[in-house]
Amino acid sequence: MGKNNIGIFDSGVGGTSIWREIHELLPFEDTMYLADSSNAPYGIKTKQEIIELSRKNTLKLLELGAKIIVVACNTATTNAIEELRNEFDIPIIGIEPAIKPAALKSKTKTIGILATKGTLSSSLFTKTSDLYTQGLKVIEVEGNGLVELIEAGKIYSEEMDKLLDDLLVPLKSNPIDYLVLGCSHYPYLIPKLKEKFSVDLSIIDSGEAVARQTKAILEKEKILHTDFKQKGTCIFYTNHDPKVLQNLVNDNNESFRV
Ligand code: SIN
Repeated sequence: MGKNNIGIFDSGVGGTSIWREIHELLPFEDTMYLADSSNAPYGIKTKQEIIELSRKNTLKLLELGAKIIVVACNTATTNAIEELRNEFDIPIIGIEPAIKPAALKSKTKTIGILATKGTLSSSLFTKTSDLYTQGLKVIEVEGNGLVELIEAGKIYSEEMDKLLDDLLVPLKSNPIDYLVLGCSHYPYLIPKLKEKFSVDLSIIDSGEAVARQTKAILEKEKILHTDFKQKGTCIFYTNHDPKVLQNLVNDNNESFRV
């Protein structure tokens, strides 16, 4: 198999929010998405476990013909990207919470960050946060349990409402005007989050930025697909029940396979 694909992996189904941005920006590229749902969530695992799982996912995507790897998982990026870049001789793109734009734009000088425990406790996250949030109040909230409900297809459920109501208390009791989503699963919660905040709140995720970065690297490496006759194929791999993944992707693309 030739190395023609953009290989994307996540701990589960959430990284499809990143895949969608990439597919929209680069519709002629072949994409492969690998959901490691049977090992989700990564956010509660040790750094070493996250590195091992990320290596396994990368090896699988390389075997399947990836020309570039997109780590569509904040927890895997913050805990394992350095190790992946050291080991694999291929461009590897990660996803980090969009703290910088939120910090620059906040008028209340108070921003919220919703991410997994694994991301919030990583040294890469701390470094980025320290760099951009001087003089700002930052309310960090661990989204414990959110990934599990999204993986179970329960975005619109009473359980999700109850969990969000509990988790959002510290965010609601501070004058945050920007909420940074630091987990690729969370963009699927944006409609719910908008419903739950009565004030004007800007919610930022990193999907678009990752897609633009992917395009820039493909151009730089001269591996951007230049045949614009036919849309790229999109193949999805999962080691779990494919139903939730299929529902989220909900794509009419004929080449969609699970
Ligand atoms: C998780 O698997 O816990 C969340 C994935 C992410 O951080 O994007």
